Amino acid sequence: MPGGQTLFERTCRGERGERVPVWVMRQAGRYLPEYRALRKEVDFLTATKTPELAAKITLQPMKRFELDAAIFFADIMTPLEGMGVSMDFAPGPVIEDPIRTPEQAASLRPLDPEEHTPFVLEALGIVRSELSDERALIAFAGAPFTLFCYLVQGGGSKDFMEARSFMQAEPAAARGLLDLLGSSMERYLVAQARAGADALMLFDSWVGLLGPSTYRSMVLPVLQRAVAGVREQVDRPIIYFANGGVSLLDEVSQIGADVLGVDWTLPLSRAVAALGPDVVVQGNLDPAALFAPDDEFDAAIRSVLEEGAGAAGHIFNLGHGIHRTTEPDRVGLLVDRVHELSEQMHSVSNNSAEVSR
Ligand code: CP3
Repeated sequence: MPGGQTLFERTCRGERGERVPVWVMRQAGRYLPEYRALRKEVDFLTATKTPELAAKITLQPMKRFELDAAIFFADIMTPLEGMGVSMDFAPGPVIEDPIRTPEQAASLRPLDPEEHTPFVLEALGIVRSELSDERALIAFAGAPFTLFCYLVQGGGSKDFMEARSFMQAEPAAARGLLDLLGSSMERYLVAQARAGADALMLFDSWVGLLGPSTYRSMVLPVLQRAVAGVREQVDRPIIYFANGGVSLLDEVSQIGADVLGVDWTLPLSRAVAALGPDVVVQGNLDPAALFAPDDEFDAAIRSVLEEGAGAAGHIFNLGHGIHRTTEPDRVGLLVDRVHELSEQMHSVSNNSAEVSR
């Protein structure tokens, strides 16, 4: 809806609407047969770089389910090619020449979104024009530390030891690279907002590997600058997903984001207890709960809604990406149950408010 009036956007701003909005991390992806069929014809990189295909994949889950928001189909690594990084996907990102020296760290160019990612901006425009006014479009970027992890490690890892030891061994070079990633992602998010995105999300998938002191000294200032920079240029809600960030809540609350996304290991009520009732939270059903029998599945959904009820706003999501072996019908059931249960909870709390008046 023009002017940021979707239920999703209102909830991001801390308004309690008639129901809890819901979307699913990785909702456009391999658990959907129509995604797998399309990927038989084109490789992942081509799909992300062809505006019509990226738009089509973004809309695939929106056609099937009553989701309140679409998340744009791309990868957190997508903008880095334009900055001078060669990569492939197998299926996770593989960096051709991982960054292991200060010289390499200094060799990346700043991102120019119009020049380096015109296909993303065009695809966002297509999606926004095809999506109904009641549904929001989320664009995203990788948070600087998570991008740094892949660039230095060279691919996925349990502990990203190469990346974390580079931060200790070469702090000046590491700071320089984190800064460059921060200012580049700031520009990328602003460009995506101007191209049609209603909300912006930063994925910090590996931040749980950092202790508070490293986070405070090397990561937090970069995030604060990027978030403040985005805010100066566009008025869009900003969601920060701190995967594994249970020990970083104090720090995370200082970033300046509108919404904090949390994984399933941190009950939403504890996030609210730590951050106060003004916080807006996103999450956090365990992706494994989609494999539970109906009754347990329903109880798990209800529990997440109850946990989130004390926050200023709650956007329902999984605690991390949906697993590729998930039965698509489970997502349909999830979305419908979140809507039904949260509408019931909303009318019960309105009725009791009237009784007590
Ligand atoms: O539906 C959506 O959420 C939008 C699309 C999206 C993808 N990647 C598509 C994708 C988003 C938001 C991402 C973000 C992303 N990519 C993150 C942050 C979120 C998170 O999961 O923590 C990270 C860490 C990556 C890096 C990445 N890309 C990995 C680890 C993998 C492989 C494993 C996996 O989970 O699928 C990818 C590849 C990738 N990105 C696929 C998709 C649909 C699978 C590619 C294929 O079709 O084979």
